[in-house]
This record gives sequence, C-alpha cells and structure tokens, in this order.
Amino acid sequence: MKWGRSLGLASDSMQVTISSGNNINGTLVLPLFQGEETLPEVVEGIPASLKGQINRVLADGDFKAKANATMTLMGTDGGKAMLIGLGKEDKSDNHVYREAGATVVASCKKVHGNELTVMFHGADINNMTAFAEGMMLRDYRYDLYKKKDDDDEQQNLSARINCEEGDATELSAAIDRAASIVSGVHLSRDLGNCPPNDMYPMAFATKAEQWANDYDNVKVEVIDYEAAKRHGMGGLVAVGMGSSRKPCMVIFTLNGDLKGRHPLLVGKGITFDTGGISLKPGANMDEMKYDMGGSATVFGTMQALASSGYAGKVVGITCMAENMPAANAQRPGDVITTLSGKTIEVLNTDAEGRLVLADGLWKAGTDFDPEYIVDFATLTGACVVALGHEATGLWSNDDDFRTRIHEAGNDVGELAWPMPLLPAFEKEMTDSKIADTRNLGAGRWGGANTAAAFLKQFVPNRDEGEDAEQITWAHMDIAGTYWGAKTNKMVGHGATGIHVRTMVRLITGE
Ligand code: BES
Ligand code: ZN
Ligand code: ZN
Repeated sequence: MKWGRSLGLASDSMQVTISSGNNINGTLVLPLFQGEETLPEVVEGIPASLKGQINRVLADGDFKAKANATMTLMGTDGGKAMLIGLGKEDKSDNHVYREAGATVVASCKKVHGNELTVMFHGADINNMTAFAEGMMLRDYRYDLYKKKDDDDEQQNLSARINCEEGDATELSAAIDRAASIVSGVHLSRDLGNCPPNDMYPMAFATKAEQWANDYDNVKVEVIDYEAAKRHGMGGLVAVGMGSSRKPCMVIFTLNGDLKGRHPLLVGKGITFDTGGISLKPGANMDEMKYDMGGSATVFGTMQALASSGYAGKVVGITCMAENMPAANAQRPGDVITTLSGKTIEVLNTDAEGRLVLADGLWKAGTDFDPEYIVDFATLTGACVVALGHEATGLWSNDDDFRTRIHEAGNDVGELAWPMPLLPAFEKEMTDSKIADTRNLGAGRWGGANTAAAFLKQFVPNRDEGEDAEQITWAHMDIAGTYWGAKTNKMVGHGATGIHVRTMVRLITGE
C-alpha cells in the first residue's frame, strides 16, 4: 500500500507472502505448543545443527512455549530460528495466534535480519491469517519526523508463510484482505500520531480529499467553517471558532450510488483539546493531540472497507475542530443553538466533544437514511476511570445492537464493554434552567454515562408522530483505548487504531 506515503503519512504494511514449499528464507519462525518435546515431523527443511538445537531446548524443557514466550537460536552450520510460544494447543484460538504474530515482530532485532519464514504445524487457515494479521498490525512505526539512520533498511520486514499446497489460494486471499484492513488501522494511527501543528481540521479534510482520489467508488465532501455557520452547526462552530485553524465537517461516502439503508459512522475530531476557556492543567496536555481519535477511526474504517473492496454503502461523518482559549472562544455560560435547533447551555468548554457530535449525529440521522449510527469519541476521562485502558465504553439505545458490537469487538480482540444509558442521566443533562440541554452533569459522578445520555438527545427519530422511533445508535468512548493502552500487543506506542477492525467485522460480517 503505497498510498500512505503519498498522503504524507507513515503507513506502509509489511509484505506477507505465501509459499507451498519448504524453503527457509532468512530467519525461521517456529510457532510451538506447550508440551512439545521434539520438533514435529511435518516441519522439514531445517539445517541439521539448527534442528538439533531446537530439539535440545525442547527436550530439556528450556523452551516451554508459554503464550508469547520467544527464544532465538543460531545453528553452527547456518540458519537462525525464533521459537514463539502458543501456549496449550486446546486453548490456541485466533487471539493467541494474532498475539503471537505481533510478539514475533515486537521481538525482531537486527540479528533476525529482515526476512522471516513462518512454518506452522497444527494451525488452520484462520489461525495462520490471524498470525499474519498480528505481524502486520505490530509492524508499524511513526517515524516521519525522525532522521533516517542506517538501521532503517534492517527494519523493513517481510515474511513468508509456508503452507500446504491445497491451502495456498485461500490463505493468500485471506492475508490480502487482512493487509487491506491493517492499512486502515495504520491510517488511523498515522492520523492520531501526527503532531497537532500539522493535524488541524482542514489538514484532515485535505488528506481525506487526497485519499478519495485513489478510489472511484468513494466521495469526500468538506463542509468548511463558512458553510457550517450557514447551515447552523452551532456546536461545531462554538468549539472551533476560538482557533485560527477553523473547524469543518468531513463526509465520506463509499458506494454512494447504492440505494437503501446503510451503516453510518460519526467521529469526534478535536485535533487538539486545550479545554478552551475551561483550560486543562498542563501535565500531559500533549496527549490531547489524540482527541481526534474518533475521526481517525472513521477515516481508517473507510480505508479498510474501500481497500478490501467492500461493495456495500457506508457513510462516515467527522466533526473536526481545535478547542482553544482565545478572545473569540466560547465561554462557560454561553447558550448555543445546534443544527437540531436544540439549545445547549455550555457550562464547561472542556466538554466540547459532545458539542461537535451533537451536530454530527443530527446531520447523520436527517441528511441520510442510516440503518444505524455508531459514534466514536475520546469523550471522557471518566470512561478511563471506569474501564482503564482495557475496554472501550459502549452505550446503545438498542440492546441487541449493543450486543452485536460487543461481539464484533470480541471476535477481533478489541473489547467494548456495555455501559448503561439510564433515563436518570438523560434527566440530569436536560434540566438546564435556561436551555434545552446542558453540557455538564450536576456532579462529577457517572461522567461517562451523562456524556452518553447527552449525545442521545441529538440522535434523530425515524419517521414522525405516532411512528416516531429513535434511529438505532451506539456510542463508543475510546478515551482509554485509542492511545496509552500498554497491554495492547498490536501496537508499540502511540495511537492504537482501535475499532477499525471491529467496524469492518460489524459491517461486513467477516
Ligand atoms: N478529550 C477529553 C476527554 C479525555 C480526557 C480523553 C482524558 C482522554 C483522556 C474531553 O474533551 C474532556 O475534556 N472531557 C471532560 C468532560 C468534563 C468537563 C465534563 C473530562 O473528561 O474531564
Ligand atoms: Zn475537553
Ligand atoms: Zn476532548
């Protein structure tokens, strides 16, 4: 995928190819189950001394093949191997294989060279694909702003998977699809990692427009600041007006010629969140460059779907603004009128994500005919308090839909945890003395839930009158999972690109 570089982004997936022979190129990667005491018969073509060494460490119990354990061996007559543990064979599902693949790449040093040959035994096509996906996901660096050094070539990894002849075609197609999806995850990370002096609302919009040039079946529309004001996008405008980098809304459409209901994704895109006049404390404020993680999730998902050739219609809406304190910034106490016509009493300018999303959600449900809406937002510190970095908070006005997203997340190893959308929280957010809603709860308790309850006020109904029913909607608070998730093995540091894969799973069913 060369398009990443042409966008001024870092992403470029490692090459994973398939071979049905026994040739070993570069370092042999050998996934092993716990309890194996000798090299299985099916693994052939290993140089004699290396094979002897592998058998010795297995027989002596020096390598127990616990999940994600690695050991590097070098044969006296040439050849190198990295052993990678898969744990117990009966517990080795796709998640185990995905993590093992990621661990191999994370463990690669100069000594391993830049070519790997993986030889599986006892793995099916799904397992092998998951392993390859883990390798590709973990093979990511954000190095655009670093001087290139001599070691760089070394780090351009490629891998070959040796498989049985009968599996080659199917495995190759599965890995190609995985590579396309990974390109979407890497795009999301590139956007999130980009420093905020270069990632501002219209810069995001320009990247989206450039991206659209690569595909015949995608369209990108940018609603700029002037148009947003004209249309009455009071939430987006209020948040973004205090910055010299003006806000905008970006609308991505895949396969727009198709008729009928379609998924619609909405993303919070605060390219930097200072808190505005309700200024944040200084410590770690740099991390607020990731506050556009929701918009990056939407853009990354569109790339994953487009590049893997998804034939259905999908729309993405990203609400881009920079939240700055300034003479022309909004104040605590301001009352703003949103696209929906509903007013918001702005009690804290740091609760800005919900203001831009109010317009994005309303636009989503009124200009389009979505089957469902899912929004992504690094919305609240309270969600990080509740779930740490281990799971995204997940709210929905439809229990079955919430379960579908939860399960799609489980399937791909991206946890999204069900959270309550209670009437009491809605009441709390709609009892302003002077406006229809307030952007701050009455106290700080349940802050992630009050935020979700606030958003619900801006999800339109389908139909009117007696038949009115709110459009199926889910909210995903990725404040704890979009970056800083140290237990996420798919990424070294920085943006995780989480939920691109969850959305591909939800939307395509694959
Ligand atoms: N972008 C932040 C949420 C955030 C904080 C994400 C820390 C990740 C880590 C959001 O705009 C915000 O500032 N929310 C406030 C809301 C409060 C003022 C109601 C918060 O969480 O403190
Ligand atoms: Zn904020
Ligand atoms: Zn924010």
